[in-house]
Amino acid sequence: MTIKPVLKMGDPLLFQVSEQVMTFDTPELHALIEDMLDTMNDMQGAGIAAPQIGESIRVVIFGQQDQDKNNPRYEDAHTVPFTVLVNPELTVFDNETEEDWEGCLSVPGMRGVVPRHLNISYKGFDQFGNLIERSVSGFHARVVQHECDHLDGVLYPMRIKDLRKFGYIDTIFPNQDIPDD
Ligand code: NI
Repeated sequence: MTIKPVLKMGDPLLFQVSEQVMTFDTPELHALIEDMLDTMNDMQGAGIAAPQIGESIRVVIFGQQDQDKNNPRYEDAHTVPFTVLVNPELTVFDNETEEDWEGCLSVPGMRGVVPRHLNISYKGFDQFGNLIERSVSGFHARVVQHECDHLDGVLYPMRIKDLRKFGYIDTIFPNQDIPDD
């Protein structure tokens, strides 16, 4: 149960393809997820991937445990249930995409407009090895795509089509109280 330092863009570990988890329900896996949760909550993230705290394995967590609480970084965060997802696989149904602003704990102080698939299904396991299978859309789908990208060494700035829609929060949203990561 520790708030870990989050690796920042430029760290080579963030560009690695992470390893599959082979064994579930281990003390190591539970401890890693505790650390990820503490770190995500401390930084008010919508999600976090294991590589961001230096573990190159296929584990992401996202969503909000307390559905009534607002996340000041992402107003839609409460629409996503808290989820631990291990060895995730994403499926895209159609070509419908949507552009929206994203941030990342590994890219502090910045936001960018990223196109994402609007509708996806995802499959994976929780930390005990129970199967999770969902079809989601909108913000939920965006968060899952963002977090799973981390497992393949992809950060959101690498997906931005128009780099004029990428910049510093205090410049792009000067009068809004968006936390600076
Ligand atoms: Ni991120």
